[in-house]
Amino acid sequence: MRANHSDIGVSRHRSISALLACAAAALIVQTSPLHADEAQPFRLCADPTNLPFSSDSPSQPGFYVEIGQALAQALGRPVAYDWYKSYFGKRTVRVTLLGKQCDAMIGLPRSEDFMGPAVIFSNTFAKEGYALVAAKGQAVGGIDGLRGKRVAVQFASTPQNLLASRDDIQKVTVLSPEEGMQALDQGRADVAFIWGPVAGWLNKTSYNDRYQIELTEGEGLSWDTAIGFAKTSTELRDRVDAVLPQLQGKIGELAVKYGLPTGAPARFGAVPAVATTGTGTGAAVTQVANVVATETKGDAAAPGAEAVGAGKEIFNGTCAHCHGPDAIQSERKIDLRLLRHRYGDEMREKFWTTVHEGRPTKGMPAWKEVYTDEQFDSIYAFLLTVQSESND
Ligand code: HEC
Repeated sequence: MRANHSDIGVSRHRSISALLACAAAALIVQTSPLHADEAQPFRLCADPTNLPFSSDSPSQPGFYVEIGQALAQALGRPVAYDWYKSYFGKRTVRVTLLGKQCDAMIGLPRSEDFMGPAVIFSNTFAKEGYALVAAKGQAVGGIDGLRGKRVAVQFASTPQNLLASRDDIQKVTVLSPEEGMQALDQGRADVAFIWGPVAGWLNKTSYNDRYQIELTEGEGLSWDTAIGFAKTSTELRDRVDAVLPQLQGKIGELAVKYGLPTGAPARFGAVPAVATTGTGTGAAVTQVANVVATETKGDAAAPGAEAVGAGKEIFNGTCAHCHGPDAIQSERKIDLRLLRHRYGDEMREKFWTTVHEGRPTKGMPAWKEVYTDEQFDSIYAFLLTVQSESND
């Protein structure tokens, strides 16, 4: 309900209850420093089942949702939610935020390359990424601290790629952070190098806070997290940036409440090249990219660089999850660097039918409803730059 001063004036002489109502209305007007039309809800897009980040349960709303609530309060606006189960990260952003179903999306990777100019960002409010989980008192501190240890890594993740070339570190492959924590708990691993927020949440909710969790830093290991807006919302973004500093204390408390790794991250050096390619595009493609697809500026001069860059961005945002960042993948069956080796002249045709129709019984989704043919072309252009004769 909205109230303005003339409503209050008229209702004053009517009845006790109207008087009370108008007192309440006056209170709202007084405590809100902003204009009347700004009592419109601050609409957040969030995933209803994504703890520790967000949940539609009012008793445990999650880190992002509570930040949204604090922000709305600081802006003098009520909060409203658009729940959307995110499976395809960028697709969700396109449908919800860019589809104007909400005003802000909390917790996007702050990178110009995330969605291009369509999405703008607030200042950074947290850092998220992979973390080292170990028994308390066992600081690892860097890659050499893992020497001689059994380290649980998630299948096709940056940590797996990072450790792939280290013979002095024993890898225990797991499929999820949950399984990584179990490997640790059951003594099958000494350290788990897994997705930090979920590790922290499980440590808190299932393992009695038994482990210490160190965030890591390095290419593809962690990134800055911010609030995303559609590019037309610069005014709202600026107002959010203006109130963010006063919320930092609260955000710190929330991070602790939800078990998110805090403290200085352990620094990992440059990722070693785990593959070389036949096409000579060099370091740009052998480097393991950031999961959020930081563009490598070095190959900008190459022919078709724009399409390759766009394709790589889609690939790292959606396909890397199964096929590995930058298509670097140790499992031969899903190593897309072997497409030419495998199919020769039929490579393009195989690619085209597989990405359109998928192979549902084998775990490869169909993407024809998700991407345009132009986008498939760009993914293909990117894959051409990483073809190789072998994956070892
Ligand atoms: C949920 C996991 C998953 C995701 C996400 C995924 N794929 Fe796949 N993909 C698979 C699996 C598993 C196979 C192997 C299917 C088989 O055994 O035939 C596959 C096979 C393929 C193949 C055929 C490989 C060959 O040698 O025959 C191509 C091409 C491919 N994927 C492209 C993509 C692209 C492009 C994307 C992103 C738009 C993508 N995939 C996303 C799981 C996935």
